[in-house]
Amino acid sequence: MRLHVVDHPLVAHKLTTLRDARTDSPTFRRLADELVTLLAYEATRDVRTDPVEISTPVTTTTGVRLSHPRPMVVPILRAGLGMLEGMVRLLPTAEVGFLGMIRDEDTLQPSTYASRMPDDLSGRQVYALDPMLATGGTLVAGIQELISRGADDVTALCLLAAPEGVALMERELAGTPVTVVTASVDSRLDEHGFIVPGLGDAGDRMYG
Ligand code: PRP
Repeated sequence: MRLHVVDHPLVAHKLTTLRDARTDSPTFRRLADELVTLLAYEATRDVRTDPVEISTPVTTTTGVRLSHPRPMVVPILRAGLGMLEGMVRLLPTAEVGFLGMIRDEDTLQPSTYASRMPDDLSGRQVYALDPMLATGGTLVAGIQELISRGADDVTALCLLAAPEGVALMERELAGTPVTVVTASVDSRLDEHGFIVPGLGDAGDRMYG
């Protein structure tokens, strides 16, 4: 597993406002959307392309276009839905699937309550969207599901990560073609499984 922390002043600026408890839901959703687009720019650095011949008004030249099969974008509901528009803004031709997962508030164990995507993801590049990588249980289970369907290149976009979640990903997904792109790896998890300093519960701040 590879980890990429995006170090950019605009990312840091937007993340700071997301963290601020005074930021209301409409502003939180708008900033999360903008931040995802910045993360997506980094996350799609290795998106597959094919060479293509085109004619400009002046001459012919060789450019690139996105390869087939199309990339797949999979938001993990609920909070990952708030990242979808920011992602498909950069990949408008991507196919979109959905995974609904919830973390039990007491045990912190994830469970899947919805799944809508192709059974066969062979040869597909997949971008999984989940704002928070906390204990890592949700994203590990979600990515294992994508790999079991044949995805051969998975990139997870997270607004924030905890070191505990990164460690679990590295342990459980060792040797897999997985990259995590995030705006920050914070200090730690608290006793309730919240990222510290974090930004609270992303799902509640977007939709609560
Ligand atoms: C939150 C968050 C992640 C998950 C992270 O979702 O959006 O999906 O918890 O926790 P983990 O890394 O410890 O597994 P939640 O279960 O609160 O659902 P929601 O998105 O519907 O709010």
